[in-house]
Amino acid sequence: MFKILYSFISMTKSKSLISKQLLAILLLPALLLSFHSAKAAFDPAWIKVEGKYSKLTGEATKILMQKCKDCHTANTEYPFYSQFPLVKDLLNSDIRKGRAYFNMDNEIFLKRFDTDISASSLNRLKTVLEEGSMPPMQYKMIHWDSNFSKTDKDIVLKWISDLSESDFLPIPSKESLGLNPDKVKLGELLYHDKRLSRDNTLSCASCHDLAKGGTDQSQFSMGINNTQGHINSPTVYNSSYNIKQFWDGRAEDLIAQAHGPVHNPAEMGSNWDEVITKLKDESEYKLLFEKVYGSPEMSGDKMAEAIATFEESLITPGSKFDDYLKGNKMALNKDEKEGFELFKKYNCNNCHNGVAIGANSFQKMGIYKDYFADRAAGENGLNVFAISKEDWGRYNVTKSEADKHVFKVPTLRNVKDTFPYLHDGTVTELAQVVKIMGEYQVGKEIPEDDIEKIVAFLKTL
Ligand code: HEC
Ligand code: HEC
Ligand code: HEC
Repeated sequence: MFKILYSFISMTKSKSLISKQLLAILLLPALLLSFHSAKAAFDPAWIKVEGKYSKLTGEATKILMQKCKDCHTANTEYPFYSQFPLVKDLLNSDIRKGRAYFNMDNEIFLKRFDTDISASSLNRLKTVLEEGSMPPMQYKMIHWDSNFSKTDKDIVLKWISDLSESDFLPIPSKESLGLNPDKVKLGELLYHDKRLSRDNTLSCASCHDLAKGGTDQSQFSMGINNTQGHINSPTVYNSSYNIKQFWDGRAEDLIAQAHGPVHNPAEMGSNWDEVITKLKDESEYKLLFEKVYGSPEMSGDKMAEAIATFEESLITPGSKFDDYLKGNKMALNKDEKEGFELFKKYNCNNCHNGVAIGANSFQKMGIYKDYFADRAAGENGLNVFAISKEDWGRYNVTKSEADKHVFKVPTLRNVKDTFPYLHDGTVTELAQVVKIMGEYQVGKEIPEDDIEKIVAFLKTL
């Protein structure tokens, strides 16, 4: 019976009053049930959010919970009719897709990421609300109570605009950070010291060369004993703005990160005790440890902290774009300005925004098309490249299906120097990444002319 009903629904795509009333009568029991489960399934802990936006946050999240949770959370009970063949297939595919594209548990409902809602997520929400594209049409037809009313929309948009900072922010001056100069100096020495690796051949700078945009400008880095890595080395410049460290976010912050490469057998293959044995008699280190920590005694924790402090100093203020943001309208030329407008027009700023123009959220690679399937098949001009464990991205950390192929959005600061691009380092030209981002992340084929201008803009960052 539901199969028939469903084909009937699909046929009557019009929003006519008659079909609505008819459907209302037919589906009333199902509706009541789905309404009931929507209320029972969640403890609205989010209403207790403290602070300035608490009331609005409560109202907005409640609306999202009612209208959107079916497809954007992992924790949903479904009404009985969801088990009927056609409805089931439809719902299942929407749920799987919806959750993969935008999991509201992460930052909104359950705060799984333990962070504020990122500008990227706010922007993506704003886009679908303004376009009226969510919930999807077919879903609205079986849950027409799920439609966003004008009041709902106003509340959620007000909430978004209150939470949103300006999309783009200039990088502050180094002085404003107030870092301890001796600690920075100590970190800088360690960062460049090859004795941090077992065979004294590699320093942090070997794979994050400050003269090469903070990267090694090769697809994969070479660890000690010529061990080939499987993921592209990201820039250390502006890494203090990263929401978490590594492409999959497995390190909480720069201090936690700094322990990684020293111990990684495929990178420096050493350990702090070994490093300390090599450095402890050096007078320059002794002096600096004394100055910074009040004693010449070394430890892995202190070294990691000093390195992290040095990395914090690696911000890059004063780009042409920052000049422009600060009000110098002459700082960008005509093409660069148009590129900036196009960057916003194509919604690139949904994910690349904030101080680092990225780095503040995790997003799926391949939203509109399956990047990994295309790459494995060598389609669309991509080099044939089989899927590796590294390609699972954040899934490796959370083990949640929804996080497969989800990566930290890279910063676009200094992007002209950080080639090759993407976590798999498969793309050498900026123009090609822009084309790929268009197809896989924003679902648009960007014309050649527009790509050129966007590239001109990216070079000002
Ligand atoms: C029936 C399932 C379903 C419901 C209900 C639903 N969505 Fe979606 N959502 C999807 C699917 C599927 C996608 C993937 C994109 C597409 O197919 O259009 C998606 C994508 C999204 C995206 C990402 C868009 C992008 O490209 O960045 C956002 C944001 C979003 N939904 C917000 C919402 C909001 C807000 C609601 C509640 C008003 C909602 N969704 C209700 C299924 C759903
Ligand atoms: C053999 C090459 C190699 C060496 C040596 C190395 N790194 Fe890395 N580094 C990488 C690669 C590759 C990644 C990305 C790994 C991943 O995301 O899984 C990375 C990631 C990072 C990140 C995270 C950046 C981001 O955007 O997430 C930071 C910060 C970093 N390294 C700093 C350091 C420091 C500090 C050292 C020295 C203690 C160091 N690296 C030594 C190759 C190296
Ligand atoms: C839905 C989020 C999203 C949108 C929208 C988006 N990007 Fe990205 N961008 C990403 C992610 C995630 C990556 C990393 C993917 C990977 O490494 O596999 C990335 C990588 C990049 C890179 C490579 C940076 C590097 O260092 O490797 C560039 C350049 C870039 N994006 C530009 C753009 C442009 C231009 C647009 C608009 C046409 C855009 N992006 C839209 C999420 C997004």
